[in-house]
Amino acid sequence: MTGEEPAFYGGEPIRDELLGYGSQSISESEKQAVVEGIEGDYITRGPTVEAFEERVADLVGVDHAIATTSGTTALHLAGRAAGFGLGDEVITTPLTFVSTAHAATYCGATPVFADIDPHRRTLDPEAVRGQTSPDTEGIIPMHYAGHPADIEGLLNIADEHDLTVIWDACHAFGGIWNGEPIGVQRDMAVFSFHPVKNITTGEGGMVVTDNEELAERLRRLRSFEMDYNPEGHDNEPWYQVVEGVGYNYNITDIQAALGLAQLDRLETFKTRRYEIISAYDEAFSEVLGLRTPPEPTNADPMYHLYAVEIGEEFGCDRKEFVNAMHADNLGVQVHYVPLHYHPYFQEEFGYERGQFPQTESVYEGLVSLPLHAEMDDQDVEDVITAVHRLHEYHA
Ligand SMILES: Cc1ncc(COP(=O)(O)O)c(C=O)c1O
Repeated sequence: MTGEEPAFYGGEPIRDELLGYGSQSISESEKQAVVEGIEGDYITRGPTVEAFEERVADLVGVDHAIATTSGTTALHLAGRAAGFGLGDEVITTPLTFVSTAHAATYCGATPVFADIDPHRRTLDPEAVRGQTSPDTEGIIPMHYAGHPADIEGLLNIADEHDLTVIWDACHAFGGIWNGEPIGVQRDMAVFSFHPVKNITTGEGGMVVTDNEELAERLRRLRSFEMDYNPEGHDNEPWYQVVEGVGYNYNITDIQAALGLAQLDRLETFKTRRYEIISAYDEAFSEVLGLRTPPEPTNADPMYHLYAVEIGEEFGCDRKEFVNAMHADNLGVQVHYVPLHYHPYFQEEFGYERGQFPQTESVYEGLVSLPLHAEMDDQDVEDVITAVHRLHEYHA
């Protein structure tokens, strides 16, 4: 017994300072890299972005990496490069951040949700199979929390129906599945370098692919759909040709300088995240009504989130759990309100509550506990003590 009441019920908070569920970790040498970046010739997209792309491509084991301004814009580019458009259906998970589905909606295509496998919390291949139609053009699975989706099962369905697969790997950078890095699986994968993610560039994202044609399209779309070296204009060597509607999704050399420097610490980050997860797993294995995240099979994931599920036996419901953690200055969060609950998807595509029972029952209990590389042992202990204290209070 911890012997004290949780702060939510009148006791002292476990800690005075807020501990967020995620946070960046920036070293002095990384700050220096940013300063050097801003002193370079290009402070927009230049050679440092290229170097960052090459390092990520090497690390993932793909031929092409195209850096963008965010995971969201990377998903948009991937959807466009895949050719998604009006009348097309793209199958994705409802248990994700909104940007996953926007890889379809930005392109005028319809996001078709399929239910999840409640163990992995990622798209269930059988549910995907049930949602395919003659209009299905693609699948966008998401590696929830960094836990790999059923890659094999989903690729089999893509083969059966000739579908383009875009892996939303925004949570999973640095992970390994079946001996190969997350991101190498066809056709494209997308990473996010938002501050809470596995490495950061402030804001930033990347699409990786082995497909040269897709890579070429992605590069052009990122930068105005412009061909800077058009053939047939020998008398106008300055000529630039616009061949469609592109974007300015150019990330800067300043951000890439930070990204490059962060890559040097990727393994350190992974190890620290793993240590925290191991401490949580051990501390919570005996807590009734608290389901710890699934054990990975055939994978060495890099986890972005530590999402538990609070069940009836815990003693209080999820809302009270969240409020109690907040009262203890622990910034827990819920990932995610299922997409089919949101007015946009209901009004635009006719979704309603009750359609995806596995997603809904997992969502009922989900809470992400703090997990990031800057957490020290005391931070980890604070989370463990707060959870134990709350559970014992209700015992
Ligand atoms: C699963 C998932 N997809 C896409 C995104 C979008 O990434 P970004 O914030 O870099 O635009 C996020 C980030 O929050 C995410 O969690």
